[in-house]
Amino acid sequence: MAQHHEQGAYARGIRKVRTAPIQQVGPGHRNSYILEPGLWEEHDPFLFLAEDWFRRGSFDLHPHRGIETVTYVMEGKLEHFDTKTNQIDYLLPGDAQWMTAGRGVIHKEDPAPGEMVHSLQLWVNLPRAHKMTEPYYQNLRSADMAVRSEPGATIRVFSGSSGEAKAATRNIVPVTMVEFTLEPGAKVKQELPGAYNGFLFVLEGEGRFGRDGAKGETRNVLFLDSAEGHERSEIELTAVTKLRALLYAGQPLREPVVAQGPFVMNTYEEIVQAYEDYRNGKFA
Ligand code: CO
Repeated sequence: MAQHHEQGAYARGIRKVRTAPIQQVGPGHRNSYILEPGLWEEHDPFLFLAEDWFRRGSFDLHPHRGIETVTYVMEGKLEHFDTKTNQIDYLLPGDAQWMTAGRGVIHKEDPAPGEMVHSLQLWVNLPRAHKMTEPYYQNLRSADMAVRSEPGATIRVFSGSSGEAKAATRNIVPVTMVEFTLEPGAKVKQELPGAYNGFLFVLEGEGRFGRDGAKGETRNVLFLDSAEGHERSEIELTAVTKLRALLYAGQPLREPVVAQGPFVMNTYEEIVQAYEDYRNGKFA
C-alpha cells in the first residue's frame, strides 16, 4: 500500500486567509499584526505575532510575565539587553531568540546603531502551572539550526520537528516552528499532532496550501483547520513561484487569558500582582 505511511494522518485544509495591514508607529518604526491580539481562543496557544521594521530607540526597557516571546530576525542586527544578566546579546539575520519570561524579565530589543531591523515576534502563552517559571533564554543560531532537505525544498526547524530533522529547542508549550523555502513546483508535507492549532505566514512568493490547494501569496496569513479527534495530521505545501513561508503550530492551553500590557495571566488579581511585583523590583 503506497499510502500506508500516511494512514491516520488527517490532511489539513485552510479555514481562513487574511492579509495584515502595515501601520506607521513612529518615524523609524512600522508594524503589522500578523496575528492580532485579543483573539485568544482562536489563536491559542499563541497570543499574537507582530512584524516590525524598526530603528534604534523604538522600544525602551520593559517587563514581561506569564509568556514566552519568539523573536525571529529577518534583516538587520538586533541587540538584546536583559537587566538580570546585564548582558548584551546580538541576533543576526536568520537567528531567533526563544525567551521564556515566566515570572518576570526586564529587557530591551534595540537595533544596532544605524540598522533597520525587520523581525517577527510571536507571543506564546504559558499555562497556569508554568506562568511563574524561572526566566530562560535560548538563542537559536542560524548556523546550528536543524534542517530538513527534500527535492527542491529546504526546511529550517526552529522548534519541534520536520521529517527526521528535530530542533533541540526546549518547549514548555509544545510548538512547531518551521520555515519552508521551496523552488517553483516543489511540494512538501509537514506532520503535526492533530491537537495543534496553527497558521502559515507567506514571506515571499505564491503557493498552494492544504487539502484543497488554497492559494496563498506574499504577506497572506493562512489558518489551518482543526484536526481535533485525529492523533496525527499533515499540511501540504506546493510552490507556484519560489516560496518562503513560516509555519507556527502549537498545543492549545484552553485556559482563561487576562492580558494587560506586557503581562498575560489567568486572572485580573494576578495582573495586579504583576504590576505590584514590578514596582517593588521583584522582576530582576
Ligand atoms: Co519584550
